[in-house]
Amino acid sequence: MGKNIIADHAKWPRLEDAIFKVNGECKKAIEKFGKEKVINSTLGTLIDDDGNIIAFDSVYDTLKNMDKKDIASYGAIEGDKDYLDLVIEKCFGAYKPNGFIKSVATVGGSGAVRHTFWSFSEACDYVICPNWYWPAYATMCEEYNREFLTYEFLDENFEFNLEEFTKALDFSLEKKDRALCVFNSPANNPTGFTIEDSMWDKILKIIKERAVEGKFITILLDVAYIEFAGDGRQKKFFQKFGDLPENIITTVAYSMSKSYTAYGLRSGACIIISSNEKIANEAFDSMKHSNRAIWSNITHAGMNILVDLERDEKKKKSYEKELEFYRIMLEKRAKAFTENAKKVGLVTLPYFGGFFISIPCKNSKEVSEKLKETNMYIVANKEGLRFAVCAVSEEKCKISPKLIKDAMDEIK
Ligand SMILES: Cc1ncc(COP(=O)(O)O)c(C=O)c1O
Repeated sequence: MGKNIIADHAKWPRLEDAIFKVNGECKKAIEKFGKEKVINSTLGTLIDDDGNIIAFDSVYDTLKNMDKKDIASYGAIEGDKDYLDLVIEKCFGAYKPNGFIKSVATVGGSGAVRHTFWSFSEACDYVICPNWYWPAYATMCEEYNREFLTYEFLDENFEFNLEEFTKALDFSLEKKDRALCVFNSPANNPTGFTIEDSMWDKILKIIKERAVEGKFITILLDVAYIEFAGDGRQKKFFQKFGDLPENIITTVAYSMSKSYTAYGLRSGACIIISSNEKIANEAFDSMKHSNRAIWSNITHAGMNILVDLERDEKKKKSYEKELEFYRIMLEKRAKAFTENAKKVGLVTLPYFGGFFISIPCKNSKEVSEKLKETNMYIVANKEGLRFAVCAVSEEKCKISPKLIKDAMDEIK
């Protein structure tokens, strides 16, 4: 791009949001044919069987009853103390790792990903990530001039591909002294895949072996969908990130978007785990500086909601009940989809939880276009199709696999 008033580092082509585009088309189809006739598998928010966004009563009643002074006022730059303490408890549950743990309030999980990229990698360092990923990682790498390096996520048995991960890590560390490994597990977006606890042992063994003197490795655990990934045991793996060598740091991107249906409140946290107190404190200082530089502080109401719900036993119970209800709703929808996929011979990646199930597919764009003829709207990415169980009723989850399989067979 030629010289103009936009600084070179800030020149980007207009970001096309493919998901919002296909959602727009879907809305038009709903107007034309009626919502019963259309399958909207596009957006990544929880949607009820009537097509309306789910917003937990426990969360929004708390907001409605909040003193306006608590909504209007600024929060602390690093986040309010009660919020920061509770976020650590809520995130880890019974499985808090050993070590020095600090948290910093961020604008959603996105802010935590951003802070991790910024604080623990230099320009042109490698951020390594499976090839089924949330596209914002790549956008952030572009923005901050990091190299985004992907590797094949799963092997031929649909297990985490340790070999390809190791190759990517070795490549990064051969070229540079720092490597940053992104893991979006449990309940990966877009696949629903969860890395098993025994696989984490293998991954950590590899990382520890590579963390020789002079090398620095960051592990980013993006757990945006963790509350929809099981009944609590999915948090057990967190304990493995305690007592790691000092040149390995772990951060957890904590998000209130899905677990509190608070997408628009833009609240989350970056949780830092280090075996060295000084390093944990320095990481905290770095991120607090970033907060001041970027958004100053986060939505006060978002932080207050989490604190209010936790401090009031009755509210806490009703929040937990709602969360469980919708987690089970998702499980039922996913079961309806995967069972019917098996029946019609549609191959899906292993689903363990979360908002999406993925179907590997070479010509995903054409297939998603073809599906529009049957009034099904689905997101196509490089590796396949992303079916949004979060947005499609159980009944429609039952019929969707056959529609997808037929479209794939026709395009072949
Ligand atoms: C994998 C993944 N990580 C992180 C996020 C961050 O969400 P937020 O910034 O709304 O917390 C999302 C949101 O879609 C996501 O899909």
